[in-house]
Amino acid sequence: MTTAPPYWHTIRHRKLRTRIAEGLAAVDAMMFDSSKTEQPLLATSAQHLLAAGGKRFRAALTLLAAQFGDAEAPAVIKAAAVVEFIHVASLHHDDVMDQAHVRRGVPTVNARWGNRIAVRSGDFLLARSAQLTAELGAEVIRAQRSALTRLVQGQALELQGPRPGEDPLTHYLKVVSDKTGSLIALAGRTGAMVAGAHPDIVEAFDTFGETLGRVFQLADDLLDISGNPASSGKTAGTDLRQGVDTLPVLLLRALPPDPHDPADSRLRVLLDGSLHNDHDHQEALELLCNHAAFQQAREYTTREAIKARQVVMELPRCPARTVLLDLCQTAATRIA
Ligand code: FPP
Ligand code: MG
Repeated sequence: MTTAPPYWHTIRHRKLRTRIAEGLAAVDAMMFDSSKTEQPLLATSAQHLLAAGGKRFRAALTLLAAQFGDAEAPAVIKAAAVVEFIHVASLHHDDVMDQAHVRRGVPTVNARWGNRIAVRSGDFLLARSAQLTAELGAEVIRAQRSALTRLVQGQALELQGPRPGEDPLTHYLKVVSDKTGSLIALAGRTGAMVAGAHPDIVEAFDTFGETLGRVFQLADDLLDISGNPASSGKTAGTDLRQGVDTLPVLLLRALPPDPHDPADSRLRVLLDGSLHNDHDHQEALELLCNHAAFQQAREYTTREAIKARQVVMELPRCPARTVLLDLCQTAATRIA
């Protein structure tokens, strides 16, 4: 399980810290209540990842965005529960596709009950989120519809890979924006929207969420290579095993091979192989972590985090703005 304290514990403004903690507790209560069903296996499998914890990053962003309007508006908690439900539903499906065994420090739903139960319980969470969304009005429904479409298309695009002749880096960045930026943008947008914030603020949260979402996914992809399963709660090296080229690998492929560097040559040989052998897989992970391309990928992620900060700087000064500024850095350097 993750040992790092949830980032909202580090909010320095006491009143805001309490408000976010209470808001997240209310979001959790709503998600557990809404995922109840008389079918015991469906209920247990649907609540499995919810009960395992998780950062509730998207829900917290909704609550923070709501601070720029009427944060006490009754729809705020519901809007946060909806994005978190969609996120967890997508993880049920993602873990099936990635054949992942561990998430949030516990066996994945597919590892515990098999793919069919994992897909069905993911669908159930999605259905519950739709039920809650219906109570949030047409504008939220519209925003959610396009975010969901991009989320699913992003995942499909990743599976399909770049088209012949397409720049693999451009393809990768589109996947990152679609599969992760879209939902994090929705989290910020709907939080500001249901709190009745000014339309300029709603738009700013859309741009901010999209950029922060990219940072979040780029950092996730770095963690997949260099992360410690004890803190990330996930198995390392899933992308390499699945043959999914993320930023460090793409940057490495864009660099000319260095015939004087045996580590570079060996890594290229390994990456061109299948990596199904545990020893090769581990060796590739270690070589990649120490390659200049990995550092370049980190720097790219930091530059995206700076872009996200620039959007936040346009927002009115308030304690929530300070938290959002910190969040850009936290997302880029996270270990869980
Ligand atoms: C995690 O990526 C996955 C996503 C951000 C999106 C997954 C989307 C789908 C499976 C489409 C279906 C969607 C719904 C709503 C049912 P990752 O594998 O890079 O991250 P990880 O390291 O957390 O597994
Ligand atoms: Mg995955």
